[in-house]
Amino acid sequence: MELAGAITIFLGIYVSCLLVISAWRKQSRYRNLPPGPTPLPLIGNFLQMKVGETLKSLEKLSEKYGPVFTVYFGSKPIVVLCGHEAVKEALVDQAEEFSGRAHLPTVEKNFHGFGVVFANGERWRQLRRFSLTVLRNFGMGKKSIEERIQEEAQFLLETFRNTKAEPFDPTFFLSRAVSNIICSIVFGNRFDYEDKEFLSLLQMMNESFREISTPWSQFYDMYADFLKYFPGPHMKIYYILEDMRKFIERRVKQNQATLDANSSRDFIDCFLIQMEKEKQNPSSEFNTKNLELTTLNLFFAGTETVSSTLRYGFLLLMKHPEVLGKMHEEIDRVIGQSRVPAIEDRSQMPYTDAVIHEIQRVSDLIPMDLPHVVTRDTQFRGYTIPQGTEIYPMLSTVLRDPSKFKNPESFNPGNFLEETGRFRKNDAFVPFSSGKRICLGEALARMELFLFFTTILQSFSLKPLMAPEDIDTKPLESGFAKIPPLYQLCVVPR
Ligand code: HEM
Repeated sequence: MELAGAITIFLGIYVSCLLVISAWRKQSRYRNLPPGPTPLPLIGNFLQMKVGETLKSLEKLSEKYGPVFTVYFGSKPIVVLCGHEAVKEALVDQAEEFSGRAHLPTVEKNFHGFGVVFANGERWRQLRRFSLTVLRNFGMGKKSIEERIQEEAQFLLETFRNTKAEPFDPTFFLSRAVSNIICSIVFGNRFDYEDKEFLSLLQMMNESFREISTPWSQFYDMYADFLKYFPGPHMKIYYILEDMRKFIERRVKQNQATLDANSSRDFIDCFLIQMEKEKQNPSSEFNTKNLELTTLNLFFAGTETVSSTLRYGFLLLMKHPEVLGKMHEEIDRVIGQSRVPAIEDRSQMPYTDAVIHEIQRVSDLIPMDLPHVVTRDTQFRGYTIPQGTEIYPMLSTVLRDPSKFKNPESFNPGNFLEETGRFRKNDAFVPFSSGKRICLGEALARMELFLFFTTILQSFSLKPLMAPEDIDTKPLESGFAKIPPLYQLCVVPR
């Protein structure tokens, strides 16, 4: 009897809360948000979300509510954008309004709005402009970095030869080579492949990239306001990133001790020189915190993204040996065996270019993009989205938009080829996102992908340990990032 009474009182209070909240929403600044499922007090739309399947759950909701809808994580509304049209209209046509960055709860404690990736407003503008200029000055998109990648690819080939065609897990083979490119820019040197500190940093990046993509992290992203007070795997991510920041702090001190203001060796030197130039300027964002965290952003983003794409790419190529065969044929015809591949070759190699695009499309590295916010009250498709509201541009739904790709679920380089065999652009190709927040390292990543794929395939065949039809390409984790499954392969000299 007592229990029944308590339940009745609880239900009474809950229903009253629902009514109050519903009346409040009609009055509030959120009254003209896009439609979506009715949220419950405290838990928001938890009942509509399958834990650990944020991407799938949001896609399911878009079947009912259309390409632009609102979902509540706790009491926080999120406007979700699905498909090519909606994402383009927001990120490109209303670029300024949609250029804000939201917190990513799993890493918020490490960055709290500092460093180029998580900055906003004037801080972001200063850091973005500066980082782009420095990356370009150190050769991003140019000959000088091309030569650095070509040299690194030769070191990678050497480690592949040493496997003597025995099976191995390619993860750290690839990440050591890829990371050394961004390391040359930010730290002014490459690391020896056996360097213990380097290996431990790579291990940390690999682990944290995977950790921020687990079902727990997706749950945490939804309910961080409550969960942050409790211990859990998010603390592990915090400590890993903090260890990486400390490594960078030590590198900054080394640079400071040996700095020559007339000759900058790397990104850190350039930043220190800028700090000195602007030390009298009270609105300058060139300070130690932004230096450390922007360097951490570049180091991390410059390593894990490209190496995960190469890793996914190898797996897809082994699953589709006919595609691999055509790439080998094109490499032999255009480049041959007597010289190393160069960026110039890309324009003569539409098939290889199309395959790399298709690998990026299917591997779908950052499926829900990094979260954005609107920078001011924004009118969008007849709705009013108040300043600061979170936006999820679902890149995955653009990369698989059936109006832009035939059979979007299958791997088909033909998506990027004309009937004549020429390369065909597709404006729904957005693995790097689009608009003002578009990936800052796109030009570097594209050079690396082309040169690493072609250099490896010029010298080696990829041999899976099972029949192609048995290869499972389902991601290991699919959350913030899609993490390729673990696998082994053999690389056999051609
Ligand atoms: C295959 C490789 C890569 C992919 C798929 C990728 C993808 C992305 C995506 C989806 C974003 C978020 C864009 C948005 O907020 O809408 C981003 C941002 C960013 N990326 Fe990349 N990225 C890659 C490689 C790189 C590399 C090599 C670097 C380093 C030089 C880099 C540095 C950054 C930075 C600094 C941002 C933040 C930009 C900002 O907030 O203004 N990325 N990337």
